[in-house]
Amino acid sequence: MKKLILPNGLEVSSVALGAMDFGTTTDKEKAFAVLDAYLDMGGNFVDTSNNYAHWQGTGDESETLLGEYFASRKCRDRVVLATKVGFDRHGKGQGLKKEQIEYWIDESLRKLQTDYIDLYYAHTDDPTTPLEETMDAFHRLVEKGKVRHLGGSNYDTWRFAEANAVAKTPYTVMQQWFTYLQARGDKAPQYIFNEYANRERLRYLESKNIPMVAYSCLAKGGYENAARLPAELVTGERLAVLQTMAKEKGVSASALAVAWMVNLHRCPGFPRIIPLFGSSRVEHFVSNLRGAELTLTEEELQQLNNA
Ligand SMILES: NC(=O)c1ccc[n+]([C@@H]2O[C@H](COP(=O)([O-])OP(=O)(O)OC[C@H]3O[C@@H](n4cnc5c(N)ncnc54)[C@H](OP(=O)(O)O)[C@@H]3O)[C@@H](O)[C@H]2O)c1
Repeated sequence: MKKLILPNGLEVSSVALGAMDFGTTTDKEKAFAVLDAYLDMGGNFVDTSNNYAHWQGTGDESETLLGEYFASRKCRDRVVLATKVGFDRHGKGQGLKKEQIEYWIDESLRKLQTDYIDLYYAHTDDPTTPLEETMDAFHRLVEKGKVRHLGGSNYDTWRFAEANAVAKTPYTVMQQWFTYLQARGDKAPQYIFNEYANRERLRYLESKNIPMVAYSCLAKGGYENAARLPAELVTGERLAVLQTMAKEKGVSASALAVAWMVNLHRCPGFPRIIPLFGSSRVEHFVSNLRGAELTLTEEELQQLNNA
């Protein structure tokens, strides 16, 4: 798998592995198999959170499982590890106050059986806490060596920019919902934080040279099973073009969506995009990873963009 060096210096694979369901709906054996396959194929960018997946369990499961994996495979130093803070667990603990950040970083380090996080995200905005307090608390974690780099997720673009304006250590990566199908502008997202990355956000990132990690980028499995498509996404002609081109190229529609995101930075107005996806099944995961190796022609990119 191709690697790229992010503007902050982290060297990551072109596709990231999401561990959100690991330890809850994806059991340990299956999760280890997907992690093994990803690392064997040259992947190194693993994503989790301090609250995954609390809606299925306690919220400790994903980080705990990854900690066990690093210990079992002795591979922590081969992984660029990203985790997050700021969302609730069973309705409690949401926020980015200094005490919350200081508490949860130590919890994450303990569960992950490591003494540093490569990329630490604010999982969502906390409008009740001054940005100065949040960014100062994150900066101190970097000074202490507990965290190497910072990222922001689910912020409105203007709030992300304001956070960076007051930061000694800024957010150098954004994580946001994005996929090939576009979200309907007339429908509010199901969750307030779940803002789709629109063109203005993408242009902002491109102009600041900030890469975007794209979550839920396989439309929750909806490219392979329409029943799974999030209701916010527009299908129609765009989906038909993706499916037809995928068939012609002999890959799945999910893999072509991955290829589109990996290649999109070649088009004006788009930042570097790193698709982030998980799976409970090695065969699904490996089939989707094929997209990371596809170089799309200018014509193909234009055809996909213009649909
Ligand atoms: N920052 C945030 O707020 C945020 C929010 C959501 C997610 N995330 C991150 O993004 C990662 C991925 O997001 P996500 O899980 O929401 O969405 P996703 O990657 O778009 O979709 C994952 C689903 O797609 C299915 N799938 C994949 N390939 C398939 C195939 N070939 N055929 C049928 N189904 C297939 C998987 O089912 P199978 O298991 O059957 O393959 C899985 O249920 C998470 O793990 C997490 O790290 C971040």
